[in-house]
Amino acid sequence: MNHEKVEKLRKNPFGKIIVKLGGKILRCFNLYKTHRKFRWMTKQMNMIDPAQDKRPKYWKKCGVDTTGNFRVGYGVYFDAGNASHIHIEDGVWITSRCLLLCHKRDLANYLVGDDINNMPYIIADIRIGKGVHIGMDTVIMPGVTIGDGAIIGAGSLVTKDIPSYTLAVGRPAKIVKEFPRCSEITPSVVSNNISI
Ligand SMILES: CC(C)(COP(=O)(O)OP(=O)(O)OC[C@H]1O[C@@H](n2cnc3c(N)ncnc32)[C@H](O)[C@@H]1OP(=O)(O)O)[C@@H](O)C(=O)NCCC(=O)NCCS
Repeated sequence: MNHEKVEKLRKNPFGKIIVKLGGKILRCFNLYKTHRKFRWMTKQMNMIDPAQDKRPKYWKKCGVDTTGNFRVGYGVYFDAGNASHIHIEDGVWITSRCLLLCHKRDLANYLVGDDINNMPYIIADIRIGKGVHIGMDTVIMPGVTIGDGAIIGAGSLVTKDIPSYTLAVGRPAKIVKEFPRCSEITPSVVSNNISI
């Protein structure tokens, strides 16, 4: 509506009300549009992978049980809907493109003709011990506990518990090495190292 028409409307009592109401409705509509835009922006921001130093804090905010003293690489996905089922201790390194899953379908009663989408979920905790190193592109399945100091090779699929200070690799991950304690290193090995 142009300025002249508005002035004309203002001259009669009914027109005055229409102009007043119209202005209010327009302001409300603009406010609603701004609010929608703000919500959309917030949603987009949440989808952006935060900077490396902010990722542990972001995970903690999402509900992951941790002090936040661990490292996360690029594109690591965790079960955000079940974040409280993820427990991460200090010094853990979750390298890029890993995936931490806390839920899966319960197939105990799945029969021919059933719809998988109607099967109940099993939700189980993931526990990652102190100083664990998880290689790139690894998937950690629900219910898995990885002991302190364990190392998971790149591209592994961890379906079962991994004991402390072991090396596990493969899909599914298998233990291929148990790291020795300092006291277990024989003197001959030490002297061999020195001679080299
Ligand atoms: C698992 C890992 C720690 C082993 O390192 P390593 O002790 O130097 O072992 P080697 O490279 O000598 O390999 C030993 C054996 O394991 C195998 N292997 C190594 N890494 C493997 C992996 N990720 N998956 C499957 N097998 C693997 C090797 O083929 C070799 O097998 P062989 O004895 O039959 O020949 C390492 O290979 C790895 O995957 N590190 C993670 C890398 C990563 O994610 N980097 C990103 C950091 S930001």
